[in-house]
Amino acid sequence: RILILDFGSQVTQLIARRVREAGVYSEVHPFNRISDEEIEAFAPKGIILSGGPASVTHSDTPRAPELVFNLGIPVFGICYGEQTMCAQLGGSVEPSDEQEFGRAELDVVDDCGLFEGVWQKGGKPVVWMSHGDRVDSLPPGFRVVGKSKNAPFAAIADDDRKFYAVQFHPEVVHTPDGARLISNFVHLVCGCSGDWTMAAFKAQAIEGIRRQVGENGRVICALSGGVDSSVVAVLIHEAIGERLNCIYVDHGLMRLGESDQVVRLFRDHYNIPLVHVDASDLFLGKLAGVDDPEKKRKIIGGLFIDVFEEEATKLGGADFLAQGTLYPDVIESVSFAGGPSATIKSHHNVGGLPERMNMKLVEPLRELFKDEVRELGLELGLPESMIGRHPFPGPGLAIRIPGPVDRDKADILRKADAIYLEEIRNAGLYDKIWQAFAVLLPVKTVGVMGDARTYDHVCALRAVTSTDGMTADFYPFPSDFLGRCATRIINEVRGINRVVYDVTSKPPGTIEWE
Ligand code: XMP
Repeated sequence: RILILDFGSQVTQLIARRVREAGVYSEVHPFNRISDEEIEAFAPKGIILSGGPASVTHSDTPRAPELVFNLGIPVFGICYGEQTMCAQLGGSVEPSDEQEFGRAELDVVDDCGLFEGVWQKGGKPVVWMSHGDRVDSLPPGFRVVGKSKNAPFAAIADDDRKFYAVQFHPEVVHTPDGARLISNFVHLVCGCSGDWTMAAFKAQAIEGIRRQVGENGRVICALSGGVDSSVVAVLIHEAIGERLNCIYVDHGLMRLGESDQVVRLFRDHYNIPLVHVDASDLFLGKLAGVDDPEKKRKIIGGLFIDVFEEEATKLGGADFLAQGTLYPDVIESVSFAGGPSATIKSHHNVGGLPERMNMKLVEPLRELFKDEVRELGLELGLPESMIGRHPFPGPGLAIRIPGPVDRDKADILRKADAIYLEEIRNAGLYDKIWQAFAVLLPVKTVGVMGDARTYDHVCALRAVTSTDGMTADFYPFPSDFLGRCATRIINEVRGINRVVYDVTSKPPGTIEWE
């Protein structure tokens, strides 16, 4: 196992990911929230020091625990990790006049264990740089193995102690050979065997849940039908059986047939105790006439918690609340970068509930990335159709109906959305798209059907490709596909007489319309 110490880089999570891709178990811990005893108890075969936004040229900035360099195990410093390693081991770091951001050419001036089978002396691979400071003199025992235009010590090695460090970021895809360097570190340098698999993770996670919940603890899970909460529910059910209760709050803004599918899969197929609450009257009632997107989100989030709490109380409460928190969420919450970022949209979750109901959290997916959760889901036997589903926002169709929401509009949108998704599936495009959905606009336009004038809603279709939802491109459907969707929607859905396709990317657009 590998320990990754986080100095607050935006991409630390990618280091963990690369290590896992190499078949090795790893954990990321903030550099200052792990004690020497905990490091020793973790018994890593190697330690990776991440990048970070601070400057080691200031005295009050992060340093690695001294123990890291005294355990007699390999250490790999990346970016800030290299700089603090040099500063702590007797070298020096200076602010550089020339900062280096983005693509750079590395001049491989010597061979080293990290480069084995990847780069050779004389090679000029492309690497991704992002640094202001640079190492100015090396600590004793180190030699230079790579230089770049603005970093004379872009890659350094101390073969005796098995300490390696690079100024560039091997964890990002913009360093094309980077994953192989990380794989070399964990396999060749640290001697990890590379047999970590999702099946091993599942077994560990089940053990972990049993340990945390104990012999008699009871867990409650807010099931949304999405991938994360579904995987959490099935995993916990495998661990503690009937001591898990799921609550599915149906706000009336789900897609066509979705609630039935959720109930059938979990209650009938998995035999998981499931309460299906049809709270659509309550939600639609409180949403009536509300047109501000953030207000809609707040109303839905607040009601969700009220309904969930009421149902949980009816079940006699629980000691634990299960949540599908993923790795990127964890990293965000321990970011050192400072400065709150602008709130574009307040995403809805069950925040605040654990305190209110005095429950502890069970978060078995904390170490995983989205695609790893999908892999775990398959390992747990969840149907592929469920695992591969596009993301669906907590507030559901409420944010796909700009302006006030009501049941009629939701019904119209459900039908149009189902036709659109059916066409996408029929065309074999579903898995090529990150998210696709229909939006019902509060705009009416004139049309002509069967020689008569119509005056109905506009339906907008949206489909984007993305890797993480942070940026997105619109999907370039062929025009005959779009034409087919438009014809079917207008013919089959009363209330819509015009269909448009959204060709906005993110940024400047967002994926949802609200
Ligand atoms: P945006 O619209 O911000 O969407 O580009 C990025 C991703 O987040 C989802 N999304 C939400 N998910 N509650 C959620 O649980 C929300 O309020 C919400 N708003 C957007 C969106 O579907 C996309 O996957």
